[in-house]
Amino acid sequence: MADLPLQPGSMIGILGGGQLGRMLALAAGRLGFDVVVLEREADSPAGRVCAHTIVAAYDDAAALAALAAVADVVTYEFENVPAAAVASLVGMGVDVAPGPLALAVAQDRFEEKTFLNANGAPTVAFAAADSPEAAVDAVARIGAPALMKTRRDGYDGKGQRWVEHAADAARVFAELGSVPVIVEAPADFVRELSVIAARGRDGATAVYPLAENHHEHGILRRSLAPARAAPALTEQAERIAARILAGLDYVGVIGIELFELSDGRLLVNEIAPRVHNTGHWTQDGCEVDQFEQHIRAVAGWPLGPTRAIAQVEMLNLLGDEADTWSKLAAEPETRLHLYGKRAAKPGRKMGHVNKVRPL
Ligand SMILES: Nc1ncnc2c1ncn2[C@@H]1O[C@H](COP(=O)(O)OP(=O)(O)O)[C@@H](O)[C@H]1O
Ligand SMILES: [Mg+2]
Repeated sequence: MADLPLQPGSMIGILGGGQLGRMLALAAGRLGFDVVVLEREADSPAGRVCAHTIVAAYDDAAALAALAAVADVVTYEFENVPAAAVASLVGMGVDVAPGPLALAVAQDRFEEKTFLNANGAPTVAFAAADSPEAAVDAVARIGAPALMKTRRDGYDGKGQRWVEHAADAARVFAELGSVPVIVEAPADFVRELSVIAARGRDGATAVYPLAENHHEHGILRRSLAPARAAPALTEQAERIAARILAGLDYVGVIGIELFELSDGRLLVNEIAPRVHNTGHWTQDGCEVDQFEQHIRAVAGWPLGPTRAIAQVEMLNLLGDEADTWSKLAAEPETRLHLYGKRAAKPGRKMGHVNKVRPL
């Protein structure tokens, strides 16, 4: 196990080489750390700003051994890294944060909601199904219309469909690939919010102000932060975050997606055991952003302040929208963050901007 706190000059390993890994690596570099990325593709967004890249599949035993040999701690930028890869690193004595429990809970929507409810974090009603008959039964129990989602591997709205009538459930189950699913009651929300929180090695926690999030076609388009929120709403979010962090014995930054109901209650939609797209506003709206905060936490450093110092509108740049960079760069209130991705496919996250106003 690593000697904590990690000294500057230590090597932090990151599983995954996308934009989140890139921004984590940049933050780590600023604190004096070196970064090694394990990523399937050469020339990745993170790989190009890191000391080393190991190009291999996440379950490649030799690659994991090479990572274990050089990294003092290992973290990850997305929750679908194979649990077996993390287990193998832990087996080689590597300190992986967030730990295997957080990963297991976040990888499976049924385990996730079961964990949340058991820890006093409310969600919509839900039921699991792994056959067409069970899917019909689950929708009948939850009540139609209901949302059917694959238990694993969904993201950006992929792997989920509405079921209008219980009789349609078998067809929708097949359309989703006949894999284990979860059926969810509709959340009749007035707003989608999220809270980014962190927990250090010593159990200290820090919570950022709420963000209000707007999605289009299942993809995050825009976040406004700090969100307009009465103190009682903020307290509710902080209580939920504290329960989740404690229940997972968590180390690092976590993203918690919330539904605000018309009666003022918050439900948890899902959790992401990593830095989160709805936390990008902290880069220009807070003294210590979510990326530095995550590195501080996994390195065993003290957590930094989370209060807002500016009002931010974060806009994702999808596909060819990033081609407008020169116009965006000319706007004095706009902070531009580009990920260095080589090819702009429609809907692909190429960068984001934070439009900043005084509080
Ligand atoms: N139970 C639900 N009721 C109503 N809307 C939902 C529900 N679950 C998800 N959604 C909508 O779908 C979006 C994506 O669902 P989510 O579970 O967050 O999957 P993803 O992993 O793709 O982000 C949410 O941000 C929300 O707008
Ligand atoms: Mg989501």
